[in-house]
Amino acid sequence: MRKRHHKILRALLLFAFALACLGLAGHVEPALGNTDGVTSIFRPLSQPAQEIEETSLLVLAICGTIFAVVAGLLVYAIVRFRHRAGDELSEPPQVYGSNQIELAWTILPLLIVFVLILVTSRTIADIQNRKPPPTAVQATVIGHQWWWEIRYPELGIVTANELHVPASDGRGSRPTFLKLQSADVAHSFWVPQLAGKTDLIPNRENLMWIEPTTPGTYPGNCAEYCGTQHARMLIRVVVHSPEDFDRWTKEQQQSASLETNAPEGRKMFFANSCVNCHTIAGTSAHGKFGPDLTHLMSRETLAAGAATNTTDNLRLWVRDPQKIKVGCLMPNMQLTDNEVDQVVAYLQTLK
Ligand code: CUA
Repeated sequence: MRKRHHKILRALLLFAFALACLGLAGHVEPALGNTDGVTSIFRPLSQPAQEIEETSLLVLAICGTIFAVVAGLLVYAIVRFRHRAGDELSEPPQVYGSNQIELAWTILPLLIVFVLILVTSRTIADIQNRKPPPTAVQATVIGHQWWWEIRYPELGIVTANELHVPASDGRGSRPTFLKLQSADVAHSFWVPQLAGKTDLIPNRENLMWIEPTTPGTYPGNCAEYCGTQHARMLIRVVVHSPEDFDRWTKEQQQSASLETNAPEGRKMFFANSCVNCHTIAGTSAHGKFGPDLTHLMSRETLAAGAATNTTDNLRLWVRDPQKIKVGCLMPNMQLTDNEVDQVVAYLQTLK
């Protein structure tokens, strides 16, 4: 009797754990500062996420009904026909060879599976066959350990960790088509409210598209384990009204000004090896290994969402990136307090 109680208790605990995991899925936790809210696959605000949700709910309803009927009959049989004192211990009557029953439990499941296949393949085909209209925005997202490089080849914009796209409002459809690539290992692009997950695989190009309708900021994260800081490889999709998106585009297309009110910091930046990894458009910094810094101050977070972009965090990041993101590939440049202040002052001119 004891043993059975233990088994039931263990099963219940496992079930509770599974529920907790489900509840936490999609919960994004930043390291420093409150950068993101909780995001949910059950509140889609874009195609294809809405279509995927509708299909999943239909499949869940069909499977849930089957579960309820089967489990209900099972519980009924267990209770109604349980062993009672005084029952005979002989075998109950055996039913077999009934063509009607066997036909019913073969054909009915076949029909149900067929419906599920049709519904699912229609959704998959709808999503995969979508062709970019002439108004579409084209962007390339490249996964790095542990940040996102974002390029708009047609607009001449390079940025990082924040994908800006226009909303498709009543005035017309303006989806964003993404080419997904990886510079090192496998990553996965996942913004739960906008679309499903798509992997970024080295030496391969995957495609996906999103068409959000509501302006706002949509947090997401890398959904494929890619090393120590996989959990802090966050992405933000900022959805603008069409006018705001055009304004953002114009701002991002500007090069950094050659005039600067932080000349010491600028000198420091170019004298150290920062330029080997980072690009600042309009200067001699052309490094490709780390994020483009031309408009660093236009971004809300640092280190792929690991910290909010504040002066204190930026100072901490320049002084010792490992303090914010252990294992990240940006080294500690061993700058003095004064040098850190100068570099930060220069970085803050990159608007
Ligand atoms: Cu990139 Cu996980």
